[in-house]
Amino acid sequence: MGSPNLSMFDLTGKTAIVTGASQGLGVSYARGLAKAGCDLVLAARSLDKLEEVANEIRQWGHRALPVKMDVTRVEDIQSAVEKAVSEFGHIDVLVNNAGISAVHEAEDMSEREWNDVISTNLTGVFHCAQSVGRVMIGQKYGKIINIASMYAFVGSSYVPQASYTASKSAVLGLTKELAVEWGPKGVHVLALAPGFFRSDQTIWAFENNKELGEKLLHKVPLGRMGRLEELEGTIVYLASSASDYLHGQALVLDGGFLSW
Ligand SMILES: NC(=O)c1ccc[n+]([C@@H]2O[C@H](COP(=O)([O-])OP(=O)(O)OC[C@H]3O[C@@H](n4cnc5c(N)ncnc54)[C@H](OP(=O)(O)O)[C@@H]3O)[C@@H](O)[C@H]2O)c1
Repeated sequence: MGSPNLSMFDLTGKTAIVTGASQGLGVSYARGLAKAGCDLVLAARSLDKLEEVANEIRQWGHRALPVKMDVTRVEDIQSAVEKAVSEFGHIDVLVNNAGISAVHEAEDMSEREWNDVISTNLTGVFHCAQSVGRVMIGQKYGKIINIASMYAFVGSSYVPQASYTASKSAVLGLTKELAVEWGPKGVHVLALAPGFFRSDQTIWAFENNKELGEKLLHKVPLGRMGRLEELEGTIVYLASSASDYLHGQALVLDGGFLSW
């Protein structure tokens, strides 16, 4: 028996763009990719926070370019992609992660709570994929990882968020469509559907409202939230050639939440 071939997980020399890299899960994706050898383009609206993440990434010996980008502004996305290509020459991975939520019963949800979430989580994801996809089609190679949610598959338990679940379900549909259109052009398109991980989007439910947190965790067979470092290995797998035959589908990382 030979030793395991781990070179398929190696991302040395690759360039990845992570949107929503200023805080939360996006920082974990950036850390994981940098540890596996990637140079990073870190995108979000808060440039000061991106600078901090970039400084951490650079300590591991990799280049990190913070770019201010609002995913609801197509001109921001195009400018960020142009900067990435001019700095690194190629884009191998897009982690399409920037996202927001709005918690309100559907019957009372405002037009704004609907539109803001859809324009960030769905239209923003599409425009980032489109802009980066054009570069990847030209390269005949690339991996686009769209961040969905386990709530792409089921309604949101105890926390009403119609625009969020609708946007994340649509991200799965978009992933399939892009996989069909761009697979033959060399671009891999897949999704990651996380369960509960600690971030500004979840902390209020799990740490500020213990009763709600317990009810939510009751549905997780592993009985705990995901650990942020568990996102690191997962994103490396999805960004690397180890996952090359995974296409058009979502990997669900939910501690078993969707199993019952
Ligand atoms: N936490 C969880 O348990 C969980 C579970 C499933 C899925 N997710 C998904 O994971 C992604 C990250 O969420 P998170 O939990 O890490 O939340 P978070 O801590 O609130 O982070 C959201 C990130 O998105 C960025 N962002 C928001 N709107 C943006 C816009 N218009 N343009 C550019 N960047 C924008 C934010 O940066 P700026 O404010 O600096 O722009 C921030 O970096 C989201 O898509 C979320 O739906 C999270």
